[in-house]
Amino acid sequence: MYPSYTYTHPDQAIPLKDTTHFVHWFRSAAPYIHGFRGKTFVIAFGGELVADGGFVQMAHDVNLLNSLGVRLVLVHGVRPQVEARLTDSGAAIRYVNGLRVTDDTALACVKEAAGTVRVEIEALLSLGIANTPMAGADIRVASGNFVTAQPLGVRDGVDLLHTGEVRKIDAAAIRRRLDQNDIVLLSPIGYSPTGEIFNLSLEDVATQAAVELAADKLIFLMDTEGVPDKAGAIHNALTVNEARQVLEKTRDLPEDVTYYLPCAITACTHGVKRAHFISRHRDGALLSELFTREGVGTLITPAPLETLRAATIDDVGGILGVIEPLERDGILVRRSRELLEMEVDRFLVLESDGVIAGCAALYPFPEEQAAELACLAVAKDFRGRGFGDMLLAHAEKIGKKMGFKRLFVLTTRTEHWFEERGFVDSTPDQLPRSKQALYNYKRRSKVLEKSL
Ligand SMILES: CC(C)(COP(=O)(O)OP(=O)(O)OC[C@H]1O[C@@H](n2cnc3c(N)ncnc32)[C@H](O)[C@@H]1OP(=O)(O)O)[C@@H](O)C(=O)NCCC(=O)NCCS
Repeated sequence: MYPSYTYTHPDQAIPLKDTTHFVHWFRSAAPYIHGFRGKTFVIAFGGELVADGGFVQMAHDVNLLNSLGVRLVLVHGVRPQVEARLTDSGAAIRYVNGLRVTDDTALACVKEAAGTVRVEIEALLSLGIANTPMAGADIRVASGNFVTAQPLGVRDGVDLLHTGEVRKIDAAAIRRRLDQNDIVLLSPIGYSPTGEIFNLSLEDVATQAAVELAADKLIFLMDTEGVPDKAGAIHNALTVNEARQVLEKTRDLPEDVTYYLPCAITACTHGVKRAHFISRHRDGALLSELFTREGVGTLITPAPLETLRAATIDDVGGILGVIEPLERDGILVRRSRELLEMEVDRFLVLESDGVIAGCAALYPFPEEQAAELACLAVAKDFRGRGFGDMLLAHAEKIGKKMGFKRLFVLTTRTEHWFEERGFVDSTPDQLPRSKQALYNYKRRSKVLEKSL
């Protein structure tokens, strides 16, 4: 006879008839699971998450990410714990422009609070009770003197005493721990080479660690759901430039957004691929943000480094830099600087981080409603990144907009590249009449065309 309580072994928790949804969901997570393996995520959260018990759920998600091979660095804060200790001891809590003035009493509280919070986090990550999401977890947590700090000094006439900023992160030592599958836990405390202890902000530690580790993600858990727009709705995604505008133009941003958004901008402009803002109050927000396409918070990405635009006379030097090596090899027909200067308004350029990386030109033949795509070229160092495709797609868009029905191209060595992009074989007698007259039979270029 079975006992009368409900049996909730994980294998049977979902009734059989409902598994279609589960299977569909699990399969849709596969690309993320593949994609995240071996990637480095830095996750930052305030001491509130530990104080109000929210870290219990978070530990489950951290365990899951760890088991999927994500390299995790956790950075915790201690603000509420320090404030509680200062209040209990009747000491004053002093801030100047959002920065705590850490006197000797406050430093003692910071040391105590950091020690307690770290131990509580380690304890929760050590759980391994059967029939819980932590069953079988075997997490090693590594903490230590990974952060070197320096004093912030005197600001606005006030000596901030033991309040400091990150001077250096020992990324090599952190990497060694991550290589062993350890989770690295950083407290908002740093040491100076003179043996002093400094109170740091968690966002400073998290940002510098993410930058030094060239992390794939920097994730902030906050009190709000993400970065709000002027109407209060949450932005789903922002580029760094858009994030700067939000900081400048949105009034009354939540306090944690004003602290963390500048950090996300710094991180994303120094090599971190993505920053995420999610709510610490929503159970599973971390998983929802990471394993679904829409996410639940705000994603910050570096501004696209590439821009495609019409060329100007100032680009002639850059264009020549791309096409001259190809002209020397006989791949492109030679153009003089004077001709290029006259025809520069027919050119598109692709600029990557301030350098002209590629170009293409469109020569219209309005009578035949056709255009020639000429001089499509990408500089050697920039090939294989889809720049050729971007230039072609843009040229096609412009051609269509100008009312052309077909695009043709003359090429000696790039026939297959164009064929793979929808061009078909044509012949010189199919060219617009004025172009036929110029066709160089000695060069024997292939003629290809594509309907727009
Ligand atoms: C053709 C060209 C513009 C492509 O630029 P790109 O930015 O490297 O192109 P993409 O990144 O969009 O595409 C790269 C793909 O094209 C392939 N490719 C490059 N040159 C090719 C060629 N001559 N024939 C066939 N495929 C070619 C690459 O192997 C790569 O394939 P993969 O994605 O399967 O690895 C560049 O190779 C170039 O400047 N070539 C010399 C100039 C030229 O021939 N222009 C055309 C005449 S107007």
